[in-house]
Amino acid sequence: MEYKIRSGIVEKQRTACLATGIFHKRSLSDSAKRLDTLSNGAITTILRQGDMDPGVMSNGSEPACLMLYNLPNLLCERVLLVDCGNADQFDQKAYRKAIRVVARTLAKANIDDALICLNELTVADHTPDWKIQQAIMGIEEIAYQYTRTKASTRATALKKVSFLVGSRSDIPAAKTSASQAIAISEGIALARELGNLPANICTPGYLADQAKEIKKGHRKAKLKVLEEQDMLSLGMGALLSVSKGSELPAKLIILKYNGGGKDDRPIALVGKGITFDTGGISLKPGAQMDEMKFDMCGAASVMGTFHACVAMDLPINLVCIVASAENMPGGRASKPGDVVTTMSGQTVEILNTDAEGRLVLCDALSYCERFDPEVVIDVATLTGACITALGHVTSGLFSNHQPLAEDLMKAGADSGDRAWQLPLWDDYQRLLNSNFADIANIGDKSAGAITAACFLSRFTKKYHWAHLDIAGTAWLSGAEKGATGRPVPLLIQYIMNKVIT
Ligand code: BES
Ligand code: MN
Ligand code: ZN
Repeated sequence: MEYKIRSGIVEKQRTACLATGIFHKRSLSDSAKRLDTLSNGAITTILRQGDMDPGVMSNGSEPACLMLYNLPNLLCERVLLVDCGNADQFDQKAYRKAIRVVARTLAKANIDDALICLNELTVADHTPDWKIQQAIMGIEEIAYQYTRTKASTRATALKKVSFLVGSRSDIPAAKTSASQAIAISEGIALARELGNLPANICTPGYLADQAKEIKKGHRKAKLKVLEEQDMLSLGMGALLSVSKGSELPAKLIILKYNGGGKDDRPIALVGKGITFDTGGISLKPGAQMDEMKFDMCGAASVMGTFHACVAMDLPINLVCIVASAENMPGGRASKPGDVVTTMSGQTVEILNTDAEGRLVLCDALSYCERFDPEVVIDVATLTGACITALGHVTSGLFSNHQPLAEDLMKAGADSGDRAWQLPLWDDYQRLLNSNFADIANIGDKSAGAITAACFLSRFTKKYHWAHLDIAGTAWLSGAEKGATGRPVPLLIQYIMNKVIT
């Protein structure tokens, strides 16, 4: 998609479709008012006829829109009216919804260029540049299509989208935020694509190859891939216990980006990259097992975030570690009751081979120590219990450092990709007691998302750490089945908030 930022008055804009907002009680946005005047009241007439009745949007509902053709005296061929609800309640969420309705309508219509005027609307606490950024991200989110293993189902005619800014002097800043929006959208699309790819294509080796692609051409980026032999030398007995049952070797992928000062401590992101989770010998039931190809969405999100940071050339140091393996049953697979030694030296009794995410992550988290990170954030589709607790709305958040938890919650709220904190109190730790090892890899039936986080906390004592359980947010099921790209928006927002302050 091509994006254009222009200054100028709305009356002079020649476009196939101009999208403009209208509010409750038929109150028109500035651009709608101008078009209405120019067209001798065509818009107010239509609203008075009741063809569209902008209302107070109820929670969860989609805003309505109405396409108007051939309005007199206008240079634009069509006007798309968007119901923006109640002007006083037009907040960031309502703005995003309005943008998505426009994006969906444009994607379906046979229109090749459009001018979106919604960024003229006041959104409390947000800058004009934020509005352009969010608009582009919304359009890109809807433009993404998975086509790698199937023919495209919708051909989109849309090629160019323009926005107007107040004056010429506003153009450079708006252009910067537009190019950032494109970089972030690429990161999200990359995370979605890797998530959506089937597990016979997207293997640990494939993720390592993709990391190479991401690094390519960037002077400040470096890549290292550890093979099983290397992991054995490092003593990563937990990680290797997961790949044992698979024909495919595990990979530990380390992407580094040095955009900051030489002495700036890096932000470390660690992703769970189980390219397929059968459960292993503790085999999962068959229903919806296909969705366990999404069990590498944590890895995909840290790779997508890495891409975006590099593309934006952010002044930070970043290390992304992807712990990738396939969890399969087999003659060599780990068995319930097996005891393994982690890189940290602590032993683990594998009571359930389906609790494999924490086994690959714990060694990756120990490996992280060598980077002397300022913070470590791991991202994982870790527990079904997190879906029980929080559903598909918000990611689960755990941390051993409250300021970090609060920064991540704020980044979630700012980006609309929310996370909600759950407790990591010591009271839960005893659930991981084992008679045969230092730690059991599962607790009892209670508090499954928390005991998983408690397990990880045994390996993150040396730094500030947070854990995002994205089991409920990384993908959608049913007719809309597909990876969401979450929590890339949250992670980027967190990093960008840090750059600004
Ligand atoms: N990848 C799963 C978690 C998961 C399940 C995410 C369903 C999304 C949807 C993870 O490896 C797993 O199997 N966790 C177990 C842990 C249990 C054995 C303690 C679970 O949640 O059932
Ligand atoms: Mn599992
Ligand atoms: Zn898993």
